[in-house]
Amino acid sequence: MPLRTFETAAAWRTFRPQVVGTLGVVPTMGALHAGHVSLMERSLDDNDATLVTIFVNPTQFDNPNDLAGYPDRMVEDLEVLRNVGVPYLLTPTYDDLYADDFRYRVSEQAFSRELCGAHRPGHFDGVLTVVMKLLNIAQATRAYFGEKDFQQLTLVRGMTEAFFIPTEIVPCPTIRETDGLALSSRNFKLDAEDRARATAFPKALRESPTADEARAVLEAQGFRVDYVEDRGGRRFGAVYVGDVRLIDNMQLNASADNPLS
Ligand code: PAF
Repeated sequence: MPLRTFETAAAWRTFRPQVVGTLGVVPTMGALHAGHVSLMERSLDDNDATLVTIFVNPTQFDNPNDLAGYPDRMVEDLEVLRNVGVPYLLTPTYDDLYADDFRYRVSEQAFSRELCGAHRPGHFDGVLTVVMKLLNIAQATRAYFGEKDFQQLTLVRGMTEAFFIPTEIVPCPTIRETDGLALSSRNFKLDAEDRARATAFPKALRESPTADEARAVLEAQGFRVDYVEDRGGRRFGAVYVGDVRLIDNMQLNASADNPLS
């Protein structure tokens, strides 16, 4: 089936009743990579149809330079979507999604203030608000989120439970390069030297006996560290490689539960 693009929420909502059977939605900010492809493939396997959304959500950026520098790869993204065989794409604008100009927002009061939330004030208000909008617009059976953004995944799942949103949240494993770096749209912004250095980040998270030691290893190698913390049987970290902020997390032992959810 050729890719069909909807440029407004209203256009998709008009079309939505024609989708027969189950629908999976994969929300993205574009700059698609193999991690996104794994979410799309899982959705295509699980459902009769799949909708991918591409929208660089300004309300989740606490730093205007970070937003301005976010990779824009729409031409390449369309090729990825066609190659994977995604049938539907939604590319709304800010004015379309935020007619209220963000007067109304979803806010979580506890876990969203920790880890990334402690370093990016308001970030998760923006994430949860746009995901709530996209889930309400998509009217999907299932929605797919990567474990690379584990805090986001936990908060999105909590939000759908808290607000009785009838879309199942499906977690998908982090996809890594062969040297261990988690795939991220932000990797497109790393120059060759920083890309080579970045591999030390997952290595330190994985190999250090404690979070404090991981932080010390990273700082000794010249990384600016936002945080390294162990929570709920996982190790979470965020560092700057040059100007590019990378996050990662990994399970510390196979038997740990996930008390974060
Ligand atoms: O993970 C992302 O790409 C974004 O945070 C999301 C979920 C698409 C919301 O803008």
